Formats: sequence, C-alpha cells, structure tokens
Amino acid sequence: MSAIRNIVILTGAGISAESGIRTFRADDGLWEDHPVEQVATPEGFARDPGLVQRFYDQRRADIRAARPNAAHLALGRLDEAWGGNLLIVTQNIDDLHERGHARRVLHMHGEGLSAWCTACDMRHRWEGTLRDGPACPACCEKALRPDIVWFGEMPYQMERIYTAIAAADLFVSIGTSGAVYPAAGFVEQARRSGARTLELNLERSLGSMMFDETRLGPASELVPAFVVDLLRAP
Ligand code: NAD
Ligand code: APR
Repeated sequence: MSAIRNIVILTGAGISAESGIRTFRADDGLWEDHPVEQVATPEGFARDPGLVQRFYDQRRADIRAARPNAAHLALGRLDEAWGGNLLIVTQNIDDLHERGHARRVLHMHGEGLSAWCTACDMRHRWEGTLRDGPACPACCEKALRPDIVWFGEMPYQMERIYTAIAAADLFVSIGTSGAVYPAAGFVEQARRSGARTLELNLERSLGSMMFDETRLGPASELVPAFVVDLLRAP
C-alpha cells in the first residue's frame, strides 16, 4: 500500500453481528419483525410512541448485553496506533466501538444509549427504559425520545464526515449492505478523493463494484488481519 496517512472506516450492523446484535436485512433481521415505518420514522413515533419506545428499550437492552468482538478490539488497537488521522464513522447505535477502545468514533445514526429531550434539546446518556415516559433530567419535561436518526431525518455530523473522506488516503467499509444513503455513497466520494477503497463484508454488498478490493468473510476474522497488515506496512 502506498503511504497511507488519513483513514476513514465506515461500519454497519455487520460488525456487531458476531456480538449478538441483530442486523437489519438478514433473514432474522430487525426489519422482519418490525416494519421500519412503524419503528424507524418520525411518523411511526407520532402514531404509536409506546411501540417505538419499547422497540428501542429492547435495542438498549441488546446493546448492554453485547460485548465487543475481535473486530471492534482490532479497530481499537488501530485507533490507538494511528491516532488523529483515523476516523470511524458508524451507522450503528451500539457502543461496541467505544468498548473496544476506539476513541475517534462518529455515530451518524445516533446512539442507542442516549436519550434526546425534544423540549430542551439536551441529550443524556440513558441505559434504562423510556417506555414509562420519564422526565428529562434537565428540564423535567416528559419529552424524551431515542437519540436515533430515523428515516426522513438528517444523519449527524455529515460535514465532518465529508471533510474526512475528502482527505482520506484509505476508505474501508465493514459490515454494511450499502442499502441506505448517504452512507452507501461514501465510497464514491472516497474514490473521487483518490483514496484506496476496501470492503470487508460477509457477502458482496450493493456497492461492491465501487471498491478497489472486496474481502468476504466474518468481520471477526477479516478486521484483525486487516489491522495487522496495515500496522506492519512500511
Ligand atoms: P432503517 O435505516 O433501518 O430503515 C431500513 C430500510 O427502510 C432501509 O433499507 C430503507 O430502504 C427503507 N426506507 C427507505 N425510506 C424509508 C422511509 N421513508 N421510511 C421507512 N423506511 C424507509 O431505519 P433506521 O431508523 O435508520 O434504523 C434504526 C436504527 O437502528 C438505525 O439507526 C440503525 O443504525 C440501528 N441499528 C443499529 C445496530 C447496531 O448498533 N449494531 C443494529 C441494527 C440497527
Ligand atoms: N461480518 C461481516 N459482515 C457481516 C457479518 C459479519 N459477521 N454479518 C453480517 N454482515 C454483513 C451482511 O452481509 C450485510 O451486508 O453486514 C451487512 C448488514 O447489512 P444491514 O443489515 O443492511 O445493516 P447496515 O448495512 O448497517 O444498514 C445500514 O440501514 O437499516 C438502516 O439505519 C439502519 O444503520 C442501518 C443502515
């Protein structure tokens, strides 16, 4: 690999699959049991807030029961070694990157262990449930919702993401189906920036043809090997 300085890594639900957190579009995926429109849109929340709060209460419990796997831990080691020129952009709402010791993590779809008060706009770390309508610790209003980017809402920190991709020498996509934009379009922006592009996934994604290289297999095997190679490279 040529001299690689700036790295952007995009992760999706697949990197957490081996930690026991269900992905979306597998046969037993999250959307099989819960039509997205009911639990992952502002309209669904307005229509039945109790259903949506219970859905994310369960996601929060799944996250807390999960442990980082070898892929998260390998990225934590890479973060430690690479420093400020690495950014992990995750579509996931779990905190397994952080528990895998990564520090430069950007959650573009929000965070499962965070609650957002729609009255005062404050965000709070939240490990419990929201189904019983607890009051916001800051303003005492009963206006807390999951701090998740639903369909029809703008993902977080897009400017920061595009700036990082524009400067990237290497763009790596791990465990995402490439089904949802804007994340699915990042590889195209990375190519335009002249970055080398690598996909690590269980199966070919919708965007595989855009990558210089696709390696197929479980993240818990592919990611540690990728990190060892990168840290060995001259
Ligand atoms: P979503 O992204 O899961 O929506 C799934 C599908 O709905 C998409 O493929 C899209 O084609 C379709 N869709 C398109 N337009 C739509 C619309 N207007 N309304 C409804 N569906 C539409 O929805 P989501 O809210 O982003 O997902 C729920 C959250 O759960 C996400 O933030 C996701 O990151 C999170 N999650 C995280 C993990 C993890 O942390 N490991 C695992 C699974 C899910
Ligand atoms: N190792 C590597 N990849 C895996 C593994 C694994 N062990 N298990 C599954 N995968 C791959 C699947 O092959 C699939 O391509 O991870 C991908 C998971 O795809 P999705 O279920 O669509 O999840 P994701 O790509 O994160 O979805 C993107 O869409 O549903 C919305 O907002 C939600 O953030 C989510 C976004």
